[in-house]
This record gives sequence, structure tokens and C-alpha cells, in this order.
Amino acid sequence: MPIRFTRNTLAAFALAGLAATASAQGTGKLKVGLMLPFSGTYSALGVAIENGFKLYVDEQGGKLGGREIEYFKVDDESDPAKATDNVNKLIKRDNVDVIIGTVHSGVAMAMAKAAKESGTILIVPNAGADAVTGPMCAPNIFRSSFSNWQPAYAMGVVAAKEGKKTAITLTWKYAAGDESTAGFKEGFEKGGGKVVKQLTLPFPNVEFQALLTEIAAAKPDAVYSFMAGGGAVKLVKDYAAAGLNKSIPLYGPGFLTDGTLDAQGDAAAGMLTTLHYADGLNTPKDNAFRTAYAKTFKLQPDVYAVQGYDAAQMLGVGLAATKGDAGKKAEFAAAVEKAKIDSPRGAFTVGKSHNPVQDIYLRKVEGKENKMVSVAIKGLADPGRGCRM
Ligand code: PHB
Repeated sequence: MPIRFTRNTLAAFALAGLAATASAQGTGKLKVGLMLPFSGTYSALGVAIENGFKLYVDEQGGKLGGREIEYFKVDDESDPAKATDNVNKLIKRDNVDVIIGTVHSGVAMAMAKAAKESGTILIVPNAGADAVTGPMCAPNIFRSSFSNWQPAYAMGVVAAKEGKKTAITLTWKYAAGDESTAGFKEGFEKGGGKVVKQLTLPFPNVEFQALLTEIAAAKPDAVYSFMAGGGAVKLVKDYAAAGLNKSIPLYGPGFLTDGTLDAQGDAAAGMLTTLHYADGLNTPKDNAFRTAYAKTFKLQPDVYAVQGYDAAQMLGVGLAATKGDAGKKAEFAAAVEKAKIDSPRGAFTVGKSHNPVQDIYLRKVEGKENKMVSVAIKGLADPGRGCRM
């Protein structure tokens, strides 16, 4: 059957064409695609990132680089198998100017590949996959969070300084768990410790009992775990219920206790973790952020909210330099590379591989807070292994 265009459909096409041109040239609304987990074990993390991002945009009157923001959302379910299809909904169907996502390292790697191919600006507001700012690095790919190596390496250094000699690692078996374990091992063994066993379970499995029995029998000086969201809640509770927290400290990057303390309760008391954010920083920037976040969302912010907020700040810096044109990639990147991002975590810069160069705090759980104890490592830069730009 021949396709018939009415006057109305032709007008609609003309308008759509105008909108696409306007978008590409830096006028009209800027299309921002949020690809985050809104279901599953990481769903609370996705919500906090979206909240943080929108808080910053709203503080700028709803505009970045002079352009109003229009949001497009995809729930990625933290499922790497669906990641390429999901990110193409934003790139090809919605024709977004910028993508913000995601939490899960496996999903983020598929997003980075698609962003590299299409040239779309991608800002990763959590996933630590070392490769994103390593071998997959690109002028249009940025991260507002951390590399898996950063907090893990710092925890290894701290564990060795605490005098621990042996450790068992317990993580989900995917990029984030593997890289976090490697980072911890590097820092710990440099300080004279030894990782004696590496235990894993598939993501997002939370059947820890057999592994905890194995740890109890092996009696290491410490356990190191990468877990987050719902999995972190369950591990910390199971670890305490087995009585292990009395004799073998459970260490981790701060994801183990961030955004989770209400659910973990006393089971998390006294835990030491390392992260690029902490409670009790008590700086004017962080205090203002926390007050605004709590007022807007009736929730306490966590590291994920900070990373979302800072993804919006980085986007704002790039767009200010290009007068709202997301197509001017070189100018956008140059502006972000020389910026100092005024983050609630403390100001940071973005290194050559586009990953934050930032202080890593040592934190201790007191009540419902991850209280800052000290700066474990100042201005820690990811080595950016394999990045050539
Ligand atoms: C990751 O997959 O890189 C990841 C997920 C959750 C976190 C941190 C890292 O809290």
C-alpha cells in the first residue's frame, strides 16, 4: 500500500526536523538520557543518582549552558545482556544529546562502547569499571564517581596499616568485584599483607552462608568485600548474625555501608570503609548540599546522590564552554579537563583519562553515619592503565 502523507504529518515531520537541528546546534531543549537501575538490588542507587542530578539542574533554574533540560529515562535493570539495546533506545530512538549512566560496571562497559561509536557524550555517575577510563577511554566519555581501583586500593593500604597480615576477599563475580579485589590486593600486599583466598558468588546472588562458614574456619585477620545496595545490606547483617564481626573485621569500599545503614542497623556498628565521600565533612558546600537534598527528597543523601549531582556539574561546565552545544566535543572536553568541580565530597579535578582525582576518606560507622575518620589517601588518581587519547 502506498504511504500517504497528509498536510498534518508533513508538518509534524518538518517540526521534528527543526527540533533535531535545534538540538544539534545548541538551541531548544537539551535531551538528557538517564540510563540507571530503577529495579533490582541497585534500584535505590539509581534513584539517588537521578535525585542528585536533578537537584543540581533545578538549582540552575532547570537549565545548563543556557538550555532547558528534557529527560528521557531507561531502567537498565543492572542487566549487561540488555545493555546495548537499552542504550540504543536513548541514542537511536530518542536521539539524546547526552547520556548519564549507569551503576553496574558490566552495563557501563556496553554503554561506553556505544558512546564511543556514536560520539554521544557519556557521563558515568557510578560504575567503576576500570576499562571505562582505561582502554575504552574516549574524548566524549567522562566519570563523576570513581574507578573500582581507587577506594579498593586505599582500603588495602589502610588494612595493612591496621596491622592485618592475612585477608579473604568476598565479592560478586563481575568486573566491579574482580577489580575491587585486585585494587585491595595491590594496596594490602604492598603494605606487607597477603590475600589468602578469593571467594565469589554470581551477581546479584546473596546466599552467603557457605562462604561465611569457610571464613570462620580459615580465621583470616580481615575480610574485604565489594557489595552494594541490597546485597550489602544482607551481607553485613549475615556477617554479624554469624558472630564474625566480633573477631574478624569486615572491610570494604564504602559501598558496603553507604545508603544502607538504616537497613543494617547495629550489624554495621564500628565498620571501617574507604570512599570518596563521608558523613561529617562539615564543609559549607557539603552542608548546603545535604540540607537542600533532605528538604527536596525527604531523604539523607549518600555517595550516589553526590555522584549524580557532580555529573550534572560536569555537564554544566562543558555546556557553558560550548554555549549549550553538545556537538562541540573538543571544546566540551577541554573545559571539563581544566575545571575544578566544587563537589560536596570536596573539590576534585578530572584527570587525563576523565576520571576524578580525589581524596579517599577512611570512615567509621557510628549510629546511622559513615563518620569521616581521616583522609586515607589525598588526591588519589586512577592509574588509567591502557588509556590512550
Ligand atoms: C559497579 O558495578 O561498578 C558498582 C556497583 C555498585 C556500587 C559500586 C560499583 O556501589
